[in-house]
Amino acid sequence: MALHRVARFADVPENRGLEVQIADTKIVLLRVGDQLRAYQGECPHAGAPLAEGALCHGRLICPWHKAAYRIEDGGLCEPPSLDSLRRYPLEVRDDEVWVDDQPLSDPHTPPADDERTFVIIGAGAAGTAAAAALREKGFGGRVLLIDREADTGYDRTVLSKFGIAGEMPPEEIPPLRDESLYREQRSERVIGEVTSLDAANQTLQLADGQSLGYDAALLATGGIPNPLTLPGADLPQVFVLRSKDQAQQILNTAKPGQRAVIIGDSFIALESASSLRQYGLEVTVLARHAVPFAKQFGEAVGKAIRALHEANGVVFHTEGEAAHIEGTTQVEAVRLDNGQRLPADLVLVGIGVSPATGAFTDLAMAKDQSLEVDGGMRVTDGLWAAGDIATFPLNGQPQRIEHWRLAQQQARIAAANMLGGDEHYLDVPYFWTWHFGKNCDCRGHAEAWDEVEFKGDPEHPPFIGLFGRNGVVVAAVACDEERAMAMLAERMKQPLSVDEAWRLVRE
Ligand SMILES: Cc1cc2nc3c(=O)[nH]c(=O)nc-3n(C[C@H](O)[C@H](O)[C@H](O)COP(=O)(O)OP(=O)(O)OC[C@H]3O[C@@H](n4cnc5c(N)ncnc54)[C@H](O)[C@@H]3O)c2cc1C
Ligand code: FES
Repeated sequence: MALHRVARFADVPENRGLEVQIADTKIVLLRVGDQLRAYQGECPHAGAPLAEGALCHGRLICPWHKAAYRIEDGGLCEPPSLDSLRRYPLEVRDDEVWVDDQPLSDPHTPPADDERTFVIIGAGAAGTAAAAALREKGFGGRVLLIDREADTGYDRTVLSKFGIAGEMPPEEIPPLRDESLYREQRSERVIGEVTSLDAANQTLQLADGQSLGYDAALLATGGIPNPLTLPGADLPQVFVLRSKDQAQQILNTAKPGQRAVIIGDSFIALESASSLRQYGLEVTVLARHAVPFAKQFGEAVGKAIRALHEANGVVFHTEGEAAHIEGTTQVEAVRLDNGQRLPADLVLVGIGVSPATGAFTDLAMAKDQSLEVDGGMRVTDGLWAAGDIATFPLNGQPQRIEHWRLAQQQARIAAANMLGGDEHYLDVPYFWTWHFGKNCDCRGHAEAWDEVEFKGDPEHPPFIGLFGRNGVVVAAVACDEERAMAMLAERMKQPLSVDEAWRLVRE
């Protein structure tokens, strides 16, 4: 342990962090009133420089995917990070700031002082976040995390961005938690498929015949890609993308110079178009909409994303629907209902997902086969649900939203409530999407707006667009405006007028 002089007190700005370095270790200094704090300089989620984040309402907001940490003690407030910040001892001597090169030790796992067993079904975004949150919130009982995928929970959002672009081979996608952390936190991983659940008797069955009882359970089984139900759709070169295995199958087939037809213009479809194009394939998107994402981002941003794809050689085909896939053992083309033929060596289907609730048929389901939960993510006594399978009340309306960060937020709320808390979702949904090296951030879940204004031009980022309804911001969409979006992330939790939002952005 050794203290190092890293800065002068006056160098640390009031409204943002200051990055300093001790040998190879990056550290961010933050002001808390007339005191300072020193934390790890890179976000535990994916390494964003935290000094570029926003300080707002006592929180540090990560510039990349908007994880939030308490400035006071570095405690985790919002995902997608699963961990609090490592804190470094700090002293101010006269005007000089001295920081220790060794962090304080991490808070330990709670003692095994609880007889209860909590079961989490699905170790994806929501399930993994719930397991971490139960320990963070002091649960000392047994935590069982069941998943049918053999791999430890991983970030599936990178599959379409980097996985099938060849930039991050599926086997190199890092786990959300290291195996050692599962051991340290006594979270038991069970590889297996849950086939049924008896909520009244608090038991569940696995495909291998095992039966497990639980004191509380969280269902977090996510979504299943909607299959194409056309003649030829069972050919081996027709793919969907949800898991590492599927990404690997795509990579095993795709060769630079081949022709790929992407059916659908969902986020996964267009991210995959961008990746396969970057991998060297000729890519055609068979889209239902002339302007992709207009519903979520508005026309201007949608057109800009299409233009970005076209500038990189992606061809959009917006007339006709796929009628069948031609080929006997090998895909040859997608034949449309208007007779047109799109030659193809492989087909990737991105036409949305459905809730993976097939094992829970004894529970009441919404029309889309999702599970309806209350504001605290509770399905019924002893049972909670989170993520892509959950329809939850948002601003008084039942909504099912397929976002990574939201799934984790819901899981944290469920975990708190499994422990007897009374937490509810009080945030604004947030997600991001990645095309040809450009990251588009979206805050809000707006279905209608009556004004939209941009700073910058969506076709030439950086830009930020604010969507307003009755003078209040209902959504913000941006590219390369990370700090402004981090600031809005916190402020949009309360009704924020469009004028005030522009003032914040321009600051
Ligand atoms: C390729 C891709 C890219 C994406 N990109 C983005 C993005 O950029 N931004 C964003 O916000 N969102 C993105 N999403 C959406 C996001 O990944 C999901 O909203 C999120 O993963 C939902 O979390 P979840 O925990 O509900 O489900 P999942 O993360 O899918 O986890 C569910 C887990 O449950 C397991 N499971 C299912 N049924 C059973 C069963 N019966 N028994 C045992 N285990 C079971 C599955 O194997 C899976 O591991 C993307 C999704 C995909 C597929
Ligand atoms: S890098 Fe900080 S939230 Fe992703």
